[in-house]
Amino acid sequence: MKTLLTAKPAMLELRALSKTWQPRRGETRHLLQGLNLAVAPGQTVAILGPSGSGKSTLLKMVAGLEPLDAGAVLLDGQDITRLPPEQRHFALMFQDFALFPHLNVQDNVAFGLVEQRLPKPQSRAQALDMLQRFGLQAYAQSRVWQLSGGEQQRVALARALITRPRLLLLDEPFSALDAELRLQLREEFRSHITQSQMAVLWVTHDEAEARAMGDVGMRLLAGALQPVWQAAP
Ligand SMILES: Nc1ncnc2c1ncn2[C@@H]1O[C@H](COP(=O)(O)OP(=O)(O)O)[C@@H](O)[C@H]1O
Ligand SMILES: [Mg+2]
Repeated sequence: MKTLLTAKPAMLELRALSKTWQPRRGETRHLLQGLNLAVAPGQTVAILGPSGSGKSTLLKMVAGLEPLDAGAVLLDGQDITRLPPEQRHFALMFQDFALFPHLNVQDNVAFGLVEQRLPKPQSRAQALDMLQRFGLQAYAQSRVWQLSGGEQQRVALARALITRPRLLLLDEPFSALDAELRLQLREEFRSHITQSQMAVLWVTHDEAEARAMGDVGMRLLAGALQPVWQAAP
């Protein structure tokens, strides 16, 4: 697939990230404490943790949407801790599909390219290529609300990957889907992600999903990451 963009997958490093919050005045809770992590291009790190353990906050910190109290975010060795989110060129996916209801499927997928100032006809053509790879070409002209939840999440992944982000962040992307569909989408997502050769952070409270998606598995416990498994080399 051709694109104008030259961004290539990058290595993510988190160094001693800390985050506190004040539930009440004068009271401080430590959510993340000196958290370290490295994610290489082509590697998916799954982060497991119960609800409230700080998974979403961690992803937002990596994306630049939530300030850090201490620590650093590095991309290919470069400190991007203070870089605004829109300059990081990361892609984020959440459980709610967050597609644009006023655009058809093809224009949803083309959106990131148009935003990067690729002319509309080329953006649309590339979006159609992408939809073909995802087996969604028949839906190109459909409105997103005409699609099922699983189809919408496929479109969301296609939209995320088309701009070739330097890092892919997924926050419980299958949580709103039924069990059978979750199983099916694991394989599909895994294959698209492997092809993209990106560094991926996949956050979930579902251990089976984490094991299916992650080359490396970590558990977020008491504000730090503990290794759970590492794929055989
Ligand atoms: N700025 C904040 N204000 C209030 N509560 C916060 C704030 N930051 C984090 N929390 C609390 O920290 C916990 C972690 O939230 P979250 O990152 O959403 O966890 P997870 O995604 O693992 O469920 C929650 O209990 C939330 O209430
Ligand atoms: Mg969360």
